[in-house]
Amino acid sequence: MSQVLVYGSYGFVGDLIVREAIDRGLEVVLAGRDPEAVAEQVEELEVPGRRFALDDPDVVAEAIDGADVDCVLNCAGPFSNTAEPLVEGCLRTGTDYVDITGEIPVIESIADRDSEAENADITLLPAVGFSVVAMDCLAAHLADRLPEADALALGVDSLRPPSIGTVRTVIEGAEDGGAVYRDGTLEHVPAAWRTRRIDFGRGTRPAVTMPTGDVSTAHYTTGVPNVTVYALMPQPARAALKAHRYLAPIVASRPIQETLKTLAGYVREGPSPWSRKLGSTYVWGEATVDSTDDETPDRQAVSRLKTPDAYVVTVNGAVEATERVLESEAESGFQTPAGTFGSGFVLDLEGVEGYFDETTPESGTRVVDVPS
Ligand SMILES: NC(=O)c1ccc[n+]([C@@H]2O[C@H](COP(=O)([O-])OP(=O)(O)OC[C@H]3O[C@@H](n4cnc5c(N)ncnc54)[C@H](OP(=O)(O)O)[C@@H]3O)[C@@H](O)[C@H]2O)c1
Repeated sequence: MSQVLVYGSYGFVGDLIVREAIDRGLEVVLAGRDPEAVAEQVEELEVPGRRFALDDPDVVAEAIDGADVDCVLNCAGPFSNTAEPLVEGCLRTGTDYVDITGEIPVIESIADRDSEAENADITLLPAVGFSVVAMDCLAAHLADRLPEADALALGVDSLRPPSIGTVRTVIEGAEDGGAVYRDGTLEHVPAAWRTRRIDFGRGTRPAVTMPTGDVSTAHYTTGVPNVTVYALMPQPARAALKAHRYLAPIVASRPIQETLKTLAGYVREGPSPWSRKLGSTYVWGEATVDSTDDETPDRQAVSRLKTPDAYVVTVNGAVEATERVLESEAESGFQTPAGTFGSGFVLDLEGVEGYFDETTPESGTRVVDVPS
């Protein structure tokens, strides 16, 4: 039996993931909707491939069944167009499902299928790329340190241009603005709703709220009712994001989206091997217990992580998570990376350093060293 069908295998990230999976000895079936792209990759990598589009649920289920795999790893984004048909196909065929989405609505809709997945005895594990693995594990670690926490603030400092596919995904999600968890409910807020100066681990810098999938997964993993996610943003980008509040209805209109996505296609394929090698990210998190009276101070725990380039973490996270799912290390039902593998999962990925520069909840004093 083959092990994993990688859908979107010839996309920028899909191709990197496939090569890493084959290097690690996984049996891979390549898949996507473009027959020529699949055939080319099959010829080069000398592994089996299947061509199928995602419009017809019967075709998708037949293709997954016919591939005779234990797991589908979906790398085809925007996932708002691809996750639902592949999850449905996995539910119908009793196949585990993993993806690398970072889109809140996709994670929320997969969470809604938890009981169906439990009944089918399969794992639905979205978001095993950089977003959300790093912050999800950091959130779980903070919740372990401060179990009474009622709020989590999480942030990422990573300045590097994304791939075309990521740009297309951001454009596709433009009309959603921002999002946070408040009192246990996902709430829509304006883009760049809050600005905060954060010491990510290489100096204090300005960050703005971002609606990444980490908002949802941190809430599901820890049960903490309030979650806000920030990303480091230089001034021009902060201004553009704030302007987006007024431009969102325009950006979201179909003709404009199509034009932007076409333009994005001319930009660049994705970060070069050189920039992936040199890149790094800092991830920061703060758990807070709000005091209920004036006498007692609020309590806080802060922790940090340093990781290789986000695309490196995405490839390693996706392959590591898939291996663990294939080895039945994940429970059935909807799962988050840290929820099912624990807060140490990210530390098992090559080049990740943490948790460092932590503060104790009682005193706010720093207790651990900063990596060089
Ligand atoms: N979680 C993370 O940290 C993380 C990190 C990196 C990337 N990502 C996400 O991963 C996704 C892929 O990124 P990328 O750089 O690899 O993009 P890409 O090079 O554009 O590849 C996208 C792939 O998805 C396929 N695809 C898109 N829409 C489809 C549809 N409706 N039906 C079937 N196939 C479809 C494309 O096939 P065609 O060529 O046939 O259209 C292509 O194979 C993006 O959504 C990106 O945001 C997440």
